[in-house]
Amino acid sequence: MSPEITDRCEALLADVADPVSARSLRLRLRRYGPDLLASLEVAYPARAAETYERLVKVMIEAHAARSDELKELDEDRLLNPDWLQQPRMVGYVTYVDRFADTLSGLIDNLDYLDELGVTYLHLMPLLQPRPGENDGGYAVADYRSVRSDLGTMDDVARLASRLRERAMSLVVDLVLNHVASEHEWAMRAKAGEQKYRDYFMIYPDREVPDSYELTLPEVFPDFAPGNFTYDEAVGGWVWTTFNAYQWDLNWANPDVLVEMADVICFLANQGVEVLRLDAIAFIWKRLGTNCQNQPEVHHLTLILRSVARIVAPAVAFKAEAIVGPDDLVTYLGRGVHYGKVSDSAYHNALMVHLWSSIASRDTRLLQLALSRFPAKATTTTWATYIRCHDDIGWAITDEDAAAALLTGPGHRGFLSDFYAGLAEGSFARGLVFQYNPATNDRRISGTLASLAGLELALESSDPYRLDDALGRIFLMHAVIFGFGGIPLLYMGDELGLLNDYAYVDDPDHARDNRWAHRPRMDWAAVETASDPSTPVGRVNAGIRHLASVRARTPHLHASVESVVLAAPDPRLLFVYRDHPLGAMLQIYNVSETPVGITTQQVRDLVRANHATDLLSDRVWDLTPYTVTISGYQALWFVAAE
Ligand code: GLC
Repeated sequence: MSPEITDRCEALLADVADPVSARSLRLRLRRYGPDLLASLEVAYPARAAETYERLVKVMIEAHAARSDELKELDEDRLLNPDWLQQPRMVGYVTYVDRFADTLSGLIDNLDYLDELGVTYLHLMPLLQPRPGENDGGYAVADYRSVRSDLGTMDDVARLASRLRERAMSLVVDLVLNHVASEHEWAMRAKAGEQKYRDYFMIYPDREVPDSYELTLPEVFPDFAPGNFTYDEAVGGWVWTTFNAYQWDLNWANPDVLVEMADVICFLANQGVEVLRLDAIAFIWKRLGTNCQNQPEVHHLTLILRSVARIVAPAVAFKAEAIVGPDDLVTYLGRGVHYGKVSDSAYHNALMVHLWSSIASRDTRLLQLALSRFPAKATTTTWATYIRCHDDIGWAITDEDAAAALLTGPGHRGFLSDFYAGLAEGSFARGLVFQYNPATNDRRISGTLASLAGLELALESSDPYRLDDALGRIFLMHAVIFGFGGIPLLYMGDELGLLNDYAYVDDPDHARDNRWAHRPRMDWAAVETASDPSTPVGRVNAGIRHLASVRARTPHLHASVESVVLAAPDPRLLFVYRDHPLGAMLQIYNVSETPVGITTQQVRDLVRANHATDLLSDRVWDLTPYTVTISGYQALWFVAAE
């Protein structure tokens, strides 16, 4: 850091009235400042020093505005830097209105989440969106206010504080790639203010857009084809990767960075503890590429995370980057960025391959794909999930498929058919989302329970079908709870809620069948959840059990990487965690048929002749030559005492 910059920052710190704050800021700037500046120099070579100084001003102001309660949390997190990696972390993801109408309603229902074992509450977009269609809230019109039907920003702060009392963390989305076309910046761009036109990428004619389009994919080919939208008011083509009303921000302009740094501090000061960096892969554009995963994305994340670490060390980042393994691990920090970018990232491949294995009753493709994953930084954690608010895209590469003696298009087509309920023997009731005739891609919508066969089983009233569907639901949860990342329960899955076909009656939702798997909370089902003789009760008991076993199993700390081993039978999945406290071997049978295995490999892996299955608390004798793994059985083995 040059002496001039250091001197200017010292001068700014000299004005901080509280000596304790000044000392914290000085120490944290010393720790994070050099990396922050180095990344600014890469992203904005001509404006790095000036931008650094502007960020320091933002940080000083935000730190002054941070409450004592939150500063205490900061101290706590500095003492427990691995808080997000601990096995006690269990996530729950929900829309506020679909769960409890309002933020106040949510506060009244926190016991429900607490009893489920939830420690991490991700609320789907709640900041003020544009009116009408808004991509489920991902078209934000104002980052500093809340959707008025849900409550106010004060309610968010109150909720965060109530959650903290229960050692639960509030997670919200930070949409970085775009704003709604009604956001003030977009409105001022439309009004002709050059400063705000520079916040976006606007082209007078098709020349530049056409050259980018040559290598750009389409996210919503069905209802938002192309990546640019002509806007009369700005008199040009605006970059719109997602919907026409979501205007991509121009992150090559450091003013955008400074604005977003300020937004991050603002949300952190309301008590938000984790920011989900929405569509982070897309924020930097480069001609001739697919404009995803550009190196600058990681520099920008490092800058923003450094700002958060300096103002609010309690805050962590989760990257929503639905990209291939090599690219994905970069979001958790590789090389010079090791451990310095996002603290967590979605494990999309695990989710996709789990559905693939369940359909084909074969884990070989999963084994192959997961064994190709580079190790992630040991200070970070995955977010593991089976379902989320989005569709499932069959992100299975041609290369992986070929290595498993399949073809990419063939297997992806099979999965679409299977989960749309079209394939012979399918148990699923999914809906096709965004059919792309150019690539023949068909993504799938549907709730976990409907995709796993519960909808069909309940209609057929066949007890075997019901057992299989419930077996699949438990098995898939056991995998995400055992993998070592934060398992995310998607609202309603803990009750086996089925597809909500009523989305077609709402004009703002009718075109987007992802609403089929965004149902309203069924509080009547909660009443029956304690009855283990009902399907709802069985689903619910299984999930509660997994959360409680997970919380007391130190082997699941995220600093240890899960390794997917070659299993002795294609119907089995072997997940191995070599923790210093002892090895843990998880065995899952993704089929309905019992599978016999020889015990030698299991003995060698757990390093004992007897293993305790933590899920049933039963000791298995591994000295006989073979043992049998039942259909859809999940085992979490550790050496028996
Ligand atoms: C993320 C969200 C998705 C949204 C998109 C654009 O991928 O999960 O729902 O459509 O970003 O914000």
